Amino acid sequence: MNVDIKIINIGHLYTPKKPAKSYQVDTLTNVEIAINNGKIIAIESALDTYEAKTTIDALGKVVLPGFIDGHTHLVHGGSRENEFDLKLNGVPYMDILKQGGGILSTVAATKNASVESLLTQANKSLDHMLRFGVTTIEAKSGYGLDTDTERKQLEVNHLLNEHHPIDIHSTYLKAHALPKAFKDSKDEFIDSVLDDMEQIKEDKLAQSVDIFCEDGVFDEKDTQRVCEKAQTLGLSLRIHTDEIKPIGGTKVALEYEAKSIDHLIMISDDDIALAKETMTLCNVLPSTSFYLNKPYAPARKMVDAGCMVGVSSDYNPGSTPSENLQFSMHLAALKMGLTPEEILCAVTLHPATSLGIDDHVGMLDVGYDADLIICDVPNLAYFFYHYGINHVTDVIKHGKQVVKKSQLIKEENHVIN
Ligand code: NIG
Ligand code: FE
Repeated sequence: MNVDIKIINIGHLYTPKKPAKSYQVDTLTNVEIAINNGKIIAIESALDTYEAKTTIDALGKVVLPGFIDGHTHLVHGGSRENEFDLKLNGVPYMDILKQGGGILSTVAATKNASVESLLTQANKSLDHMLRFGVTTIEAKSGYGLDTDTERKQLEVNHLLNEHHPIDIHSTYLKAHALPKAFKDSKDEFIDSVLDDMEQIKEDKLAQSVDIFCEDGVFDEKDTQRVCEKAQTLGLSLRIHTDEIKPIGGTKVALEYEAKSIDHLIMISDDDIALAKETMTLCNVLPSTSFYLNKPYAPARKMVDAGCMVGVSSDYNPGSTPSENLQFSMHLAALKMGLTPEEILCAVTLHPATSLGIDDHVGMLDVGYDADLIICDVPNLAYFFYHYGINHVTDVIKHGKQVVKKSQLIKEENHVIN
């Protein structure tokens, strides 16, 4: 049989096994993979009967499913190195926001940015992610806080999704910060969040809705209003909650069957007990704890309780300006005490389940998308033990090699600028 790609000489292939939340990982040794029309068509010990247009020699390295980064703020204007000094001098993240900086300074930069410049900047970030082995992401708006700029961000997501190999799931996050003009009329701002949601759904600009439920930003009632409207419109929920001060967002999100609850540094034992009964992704963001010098979310406790834990980068210009999901994975091991197998599930099958795409991505099996990476490590434990470097040498997305020996392969439609 003729196929597009054959990967030979795989040392070990590791893949999570269904059901999600079981944290089971299969290890296959000395196998080969055949790929045709973007799909995996065979994983066997010898595929001599398959004639391939391209044969990739994995040189005894490790193959994993492409990583899924389930929480990013990909599209934004500018950067915030001008606040780095304040941060290094110990000014808390929320104080910078209260002074009109933080998220609000990125809002100003994003409003002023052209679509072209947003595309160029985000495309560069996507290229970094791809080199680190990420093949699917979730990306939020939230740096507009007005109708046009929020839509501009989501439209950029849409264009990037068409032109870049990484698949993008879009989330509408107008309720990310309260604009100054609404400082005495928060309810009216939430009204505008709800009003815009209808057209966003109609125009298919986002599949999910988010709100930053945090002391001094939006409260339990605001979260409830946003969840109610999203549920009515049939949009999924992915909620920023329990990051700095626990104010009830997690319970509301779980009541509305959110697909994902994110941050969770301050999650209570009661809420862990609620979350473990659900298929809501408990999405921890250890790079944010690292960058803000905050405690790490109790991920070990959540896994032990039976929650579906995810690990994501939270890439954004303020609380963690790094596209490197592998760094978050290393922190999940070293600072949160998760095992290599648990973390593999947390960046593949679990976010895939939360995004509703686990029937074709998130694991390696016949019939699944050929989204996979080759890592220059002898085994899975080594991937976590040897930290601070990029282990990924090759990336295959939808059956196409897009990174070869750590170099991007740029095709015409992959270059946006
Ligand atoms: O998830 N906490 C709220 N939102 C982002 C940070 C956004 C920013 O600082 O620009 C987060 O950490
Ligand atoms: Fe975030």
